[in-house]
Amino acid sequence: MDTPSTLDMPLEEAMMTQRAIRRLKPDPVDDAVILKVIELALRAPTGSNAQNWEFIVVKDPAVKGKLARMNRQAWNIYGGIGRSIANRTGDEAMKKILKAVQWQADHFEEVPVIVVACLKAVIPWFPSIAASSAYGSIYPSVQNLLLAARAANLGAALITLPLWSRFRAQRALGLPMTIAPCAVIPLGWPKGKYGPTTRRPVGEVVSLDRYGNRAFLE
Ligand SMILES: Cc1cc2nc3c(=O)[nH]c(=O)nc-3n(C[C@H](O)[C@H](O)[C@H](O)COP(=O)(O)O)c2cc1C
Repeated sequence: MDTPSTLDMPLEEAMMTQRAIRRLKPDPVDDAVILKVIELALRAPTGSNAQNWEFIVVKDPAVKGKLARMNRQAWNIYGGIGRSIANRTGDEAMKKILKAVQWQADHFEEVPVIVVACLKAVIPWFPSIAASSAYGSIYPSVQNLLLAARAANLGAALITLPLWSRFRAQRALGLPMTIAPCAVIPLGWPKGKYGPTTRRPVGEVVSLDRYGNRAFLE
């Protein structure tokens, strides 16, 4: 699939069909496309407009290999737990996700580009209120990046398993201690199709005036 020259997909279509695409082709992705989706990510808000983000575009097989190893280490634990829950409950949707995550873990090194979204000056001993406002300054940009990737027909997923050890991730990426890796986004041309996504109906999660007043439930 080609990247359109301008990303003019209607916003609603991009939002309705953007989903975690984990099965990616190994084919290369032009730097121009990667920089375009990161440029659009930078339109997002940050606390005090600090713009204290850093994006590492990982293409070096040695660095990818380190992230792949860390992803697998975390996945060996979470995947085992997930599989035993899915087998016990017979949750077919969960089994499908687990298969896709397993595929991603098995093919991580083949992903053409991995973007790591980071924040400057997030120190490990932050009190939680400061930490939550700090991390709140990276996720809007990550969501922008995911939507821009969708409009570019790229496959993408927001993942955090490779970051189970902040220290090891920092070492792999050459980050100083004052820059925290927050989200990993493997990018490439999708093997499968986009959306639609399954989400809870709006009336089920919205209350009017007071929690629990489900006035918008049909
Ligand atoms: C904070 C956060 C962390 C996530 N970490 C991972 C991860 O480590 N590995 C993974 O495969 N997916 C990860 N995901 C993706 C979710 O599993 C995915 O967004 C969710 O299942 C919905 O998928 P869908 O958009 O395809 O419906 C993460 C999502 C979020 C928001």
